[in-house]
Amino acid sequence: MTGAGELELAIILPTLNERGNLAPLVDRISAALGNTGWEVLVVDDNSIDGTADEARALALEDRRVRVIQRIGRRGLASAAIEGFCATAAPYAAVMDADHQHDPALLPTMLAALRAGEADIAVASRFAEGASTANWDNPEREKLSGFANVLARRLTGVELSDPMSGYFMLPTALARALAPRLSGFGFKILLDLLASADRRLTIKEFPLDFAARRAGESKLDRAIAFDFLAGIYDKTFGRLIPTRFALFGTVGAAGVLVHMAVLSMVLFIFGEAFAVGQIAAVLSAMSFNFFLNNWLTYRDQRLKGAGAMLKGWIGFCLTCAVGGFANVAVATLLEMQGLVWFLAALAGILVGSVWNYALSSRFVWGRY
Ligand code: GDD
Ligand code: MN
Repeated sequence: MTGAGELELAIILPTLNERGNLAPLVDRISAALGNTGWEVLVVDDNSIDGTADEARALALEDRRVRVIQRIGRRGLASAAIEGFCATAAPYAAVMDADHQHDPALLPTMLAALRAGEADIAVASRFAEGASTANWDNPEREKLSGFANVLARRLTGVELSDPMSGYFMLPTALARALAPRLSGFGFKILLDLLASADRRLTIKEFPLDFAARRAGESKLDRAIAFDFLAGIYDKTFGRLIPTRFALFGTVGAAGVLVHMAVLSMVLFIFGEAFAVGQIAAVLSAMSFNFFLNNWLTYRDQRLKGAGAMLKGWIGFCLTCAVGGFANVAVATLLEMQGLVWFLAALAGILVGSVWNYALSSRFVWGRY
């Protein structure tokens, strides 16, 4: 272990299949930081390519490298929070492990924080002097002006790159905010800013955004969706939890599918109501399963034929129980003299809460 000053900066690297990128990145970080006391925290979500083992191998050579291997958990934002809480360093930076974020900015960002120039230092792809010339798909990030306005309203802070995944802040501040962070796919930086009681100050550093070195991106095009979901979470999320709102919206769309299939069968086969109803229920359930898997649970999406089939069966079973509860409650209330549509509504509500609770645990939950 090379002699370096006391621990000052933790570099948190959330990883999902970044094995080949780690060693060269640690070298680059080490070269950039020189005598500053640093540690690298690899927060790996049980990557199948052995990223955690690779990190441990590096740690055996250099104790400044540490590993947190998480099993049964997922998410870039929660990995960053894990890192904030697992270091004794007074400052922490979060960056991609794929070499898109240049470690050469670290000392400059740290100096700015130390000098009290801002609460948070943010590397921006879109600040004056930044460049995305080498990025393979810069289009993805061109957030609409609307999204930027929303971000500003929410945080009170002017940011050229509110989705940046490269920033630095005092760990005490991050830990103070941690209990309030939503953890729902919302970009962690925006979440930190929106969770603070006071308006945090920002200093932006133009970033020369590079192409990913090896492996592939884990964040897909629906990132704009994450952004909107995060904003909902911070505003109405306390009233009706984000996931439940999504689940309910998907369910409502399922009603449309149900009606469409039912009317089609009736139109084609005439009097076959029971057949139509069965076909409609199956179609609506499958539609709901796929849409929920794609949107509502995009952070823990089921993949592969086996997992999908198991999930689909589980979801249908869950819905059967929910449907039963729905009918039972509605019938009971109707018998008590409640108007039919209110009784039906109550049944739907109870059924959906039930479906939601069960499926989030048994279809998309691991434990
Ligand atoms: N532990 C963990 N868990 N790490 C993850 C997960 C996860 O579920 N998902 C992604 N990562 C890691 C990746 O391995 C990588 O080191 C980093 O988080 C960022 O993921 P990328 O796959 O490289 O994201 P990107 O380059 O497409 O997205 C860029 O733009 C985003 C804004 O839209 C990055 O700069 C992000 O940091 C940024 O938020
Ligand atoms: Mn990346």
